[in-house]
Amino acid sequence: MDTSQIALMERGKTALIHDPREGDKSKITLVKAKGSLVWDDKGREYLDCTSQAWSNSLGANDARVVEAAIAQLRDITHARPNFNTIPLLKLTAKLAEISPGDLNRIGYCLHGSLAVEMALKLAFKNRPGARNVIVMQDSYHGRSLATMAASWPHPNNPFHALQPQCFTRVPHPDSYRPRFGMDLEAETRMCLSLLEDTITKGVDGGVAALIIEPILGNGGHIIVGKAFLQGLRDVCDRHNIVLIFDEIQSCFGRTGEMFAADYYGVTPDIMTFGKGVSGGFPLAGIMASDRLNGFSSGEDALTFGQFPVAMAAAVATIDAIIADDLCGKARALGAYATQRLHEMSERHPLIGDIRGPGLFVSIELVKDRATKEAAPKAASEVYKRGVEKGVLFGESRYAGLGNLIKIKPPLDCSHAQMSHALDVFDAVLGSIEADGIA
Ligand SMILES: Cc1ncc(COP(=O)(O)O)c(C=O)c1O
Repeated sequence: MDTSQIALMERGKTALIHDPREGDKSKITLVKAKGSLVWDDKGREYLDCTSQAWSNSLGANDARVVEAAIAQLRDITHARPNFNTIPLLKLTAKLAEISPGDLNRIGYCLHGSLAVEMALKLAFKNRPGARNVIVMQDSYHGRSLATMAASWPHPNNPFHALQPQCFTRVPHPDSYRPRFGMDLEAETRMCLSLLEDTITKGVDGGVAALIIEPILGNGGHIIVGKAFLQGLRDVCDRHNIVLIFDEIQSCFGRTGEMFAADYYGVTPDIMTFGKGVSGGFPLAGIMASDRLNGFSSGEDALTFGQFPVAMAAAVATIDAIIADDLCGKARALGAYATQRLHEMSERHPLIGDIRGPGLFVSIELVKDRATKEAAPKAASEVYKRGVEKGVLFGESRYAGLGNLIKIKPPLDCSHAQMSHALDVFDAVLGSIEADGIA
C-alpha cells in the first residue's frame, strides 16, 4: 500500500463516529479471509476463533457461497419487499423444512437486533392488549433502541427516553455462578417460581412475550439448562405468553445441532436467527409457529430487508452445512476442545470453568477457584498475547465479569487449526500465570 493510501486510511480512522479516542486504537484492519483464517493490512495471518462475531458458521469465503452470491448479483441485486425473488422463495421453503416443530412461517431483515424487534412485534400482534415483555437479567438482544432496553441495564444509559418501557428483567439459573447459592435444580425451581410471581403480581397488564437466549451468549455464556427452558415452555403455555428463543448466536450448527431448540428439545413459539445463516452476508429473521397470525401489509417492511444476494448466499450456506455435516463436525471438534481444556485446567489454576456445547466453547478465568473471583485482566491479556501469536480469541467486553475467553471458530475449522489454537491458549495462559497477572 503506498503512502497516500495509508494516509487515507488514517484519515478514515479518525473520522469514524465510533470514537477511536475512546475505542481500541490497536483495532486490526482486515483485508482478506479464507476459512478460519484472516489477514490484516500488514499481511499478518490470524486464526480467527471468533468467526467474526460467530457469524462464519461455514468458514469465510467458501467457494459455494461466493459463487451463489455472484450469480445472484448478476441476475438481480435488489428487490423491495413488495416483490418475491427466487432466492427468497427457495430460502423460505428450506428454512420451513429444517425449522424445529411447527415454526414454519419465516420473516426476514438484515440484523439480529431487528429480528428480535420483529419477533416482539409479532408477539404483541398475537396478544392484543398485553403490555409487557419478560427478559432475563443477563440477556443480550442487540443494540437497536428496543433491544438495548431488552438487554442487561446499559451503564449510564443515555438513550432511556427513546426506549420502550415494557421490559421486566427476571433472574435465571446460572450453572457456574448460582444466584441463590443453590444447585442448578433448586435454582431452576426458584427462578421459575419468581417468574410466575412476576407475571401474576409484578407487572401491570398482561405479558405478551418472554424472550430468552437458550444459552446467554454476550451476557457471559451462561447455561440456564434444559429444565429451565422446559419450565419456561410450561409457564408460557399456562399464561398464554408467546415464548421467543433468540437464536441469533446459537443457530445453524454452533451447538452441534442445527438450532439450540433442537439441542434442548424445547420448541418456542417464535425463534430468531441471524449471524451464521448466510456465510457472512447480512441476514437475520424469525421463524414463527403456524398457530400465530402473521404480519399485515405495512406492519413489517424494510427496503433492503429481503436482500436477494444474502438470501442466495444463505441457501448455499445451509446446503453446505448439511452436505458437510457441520453439526457433527461441531460436536466432534467441540468435544476435542473441551477435553483438551479440561486437561489444561489441571495445570492452569486460572481456568475456572469450561463450557460448551458443540463449538459454543468458552472458558471463565478466575483468580481463585474456590471464590470464583473473576480475572478480567488475565482475560484481556490472553486476547493481547493471542494476537501477538496470530490467534484471535473471543472476549466478553459487555455485561458481566469480562473474564471470559471464547473459542468459537467456523464449524469447518480443521482439527489441526483447533489444536494450534489450543496450544497457543495453553502457552499464553502459562506465560500470564508466570507473570502473576490475574
Ligand atoms: C443473542 C443475540 N441477539 C441479538 C443480537 C444482535 O444481532 P445484530 O448485532 O446482528 O443486530 C446478537 C448479537 O450479538 C446476539 O448475540
